[in-house]
Amino acid sequence: MSFDVDAVRADFPILARQVHGRPLIYLDNGASAQKPRCVIEAITRAYEGEYANVHRGLHYLSNLATENYERVRAIIARFLNAPHEDEVIFTSGSTEALNMVSYGWAAPNLQPGDEILLSVLEHHANIVPWHFLRERQGVVLNWVEPEPDGSLPPEKVLAAITPRTRMIAVTHMSNVTGTVVDIAGIRAGTDLPLVVDGSQAAVHMPVDLSKLGADFYCITGHKLYGPSGSGAIWVRRERQAEMRPFLGGGDMIRTVARDAVTYNDGPLRFEAGTPGIVNQIGLGVALEYLMDLGMENIAAHERALRDYARDRLRSLNWLQVQGDAADKGAIFSMTMEGAHAHDISTILDKKGIAVRAGTHCAMPLMAHLGVPASARASFAMYNTQAEVDALIEGLTFCRELFA
Ligand code: ALA
Repeated sequence: MSFDVDAVRADFPILARQVHGRPLIYLDNGASAQKPRCVIEAITRAYEGEYANVHRGLHYLSNLATENYERVRAIIARFLNAPHEDEVIFTSGSTEALNMVSYGWAAPNLQPGDEILLSVLEHHANIVPWHFLRERQGVVLNWVEPEPDGSLPPEKVLAAITPRTRMIAVTHMSNVTGTVVDIAGIRAGTDLPLVVDGSQAAVHMPVDLSKLGADFYCITGHKLYGPSGSGAIWVRRERQAEMRPFLGGGDMIRTVARDAVTYNDGPLRFEAGTPGIVNQIGLGVALEYLMDLGMENIAAHERALRDYARDRLRSLNWLQVQGDAADKGAIFSMTMEGAHAHDISTILDKKGIAVRAGTHCAMPLMAHLGVPASARASFAMYNTQAEVDALIEGLTFCRELFA
């Protein structure tokens, strides 16, 4: 099946708008993606006619909302090719997911002096929850650096394991360099618990959890063309059994008395309080939309965009792109001598081009790269080669202003 980018663009109402009198060129997808009409309509439908709290009622609307909400678990399992639906825990996004692993699995299972191996590519969401363990219970954080081209070979990760390493936390795709990490390659060399941040990767390539070898794999809905505040973490059954609940409250319990509490089974045990009901329903629709398009088709389209952008950006000898691994997503973080990243972003914005500037929630990586800030263009399935050309034109304009 081929991929019709114009048809996909027509599904995203916001792409028809103008910004500063210019057609919007949205290249900030790494931060958050736009939403297709089917997701927007599903949210409206849910609130207009199918809304009530879930898991609690015996009335029609509550049952309907519960059914609509719970079916998303199966959709997520199918999207990730997860072996079991009850391994999917709903979260508000990757930040909650990774904190859940830190509080729920690592805190009770790690001792002072135990080590967590992290890659320098990580987003703060896959760093700060581990710092909590360092600060609170004397866990040691060890770091593995990427190669000069931004790649992170599995052998390098495996070589950094010590006798005290108890867990590895790594991204599947860097939000700064686009580097794709070979998770199956890491798993091939170790049995250690493996926490994988799939926030970027799952948007741009097919993920097959039955082959990857992760123990924990999180996704975040707002990058997956779904609502912000939606997401999930897949936790292998054996690990889920080792986890204690992270947040306490309604729905995650079986019984509560003055002097005792017992917990619910399965994923519900980790889902306290009224969840993001409609957010998750919207995420389910977004994932079905992606599966209808075909993740292989999306990945092929984005690979072509990446190659085109990579060639054109390489031809600009006054521009530095951070990270050029052979296997990378269509994410380009850029610096230009004499121009601050924020200036580049502001100038591009005036041309209708949205990029992110700064440290991209990845300060250890930026420090490693020796770059105080960069301007980042992150592409999505609805972007086109013409938009790459517009970016090149905009960057050239910046260069002329600052040279
Ligand atoms: N993690 C998001 C980004 O990379 C916010 O921009």
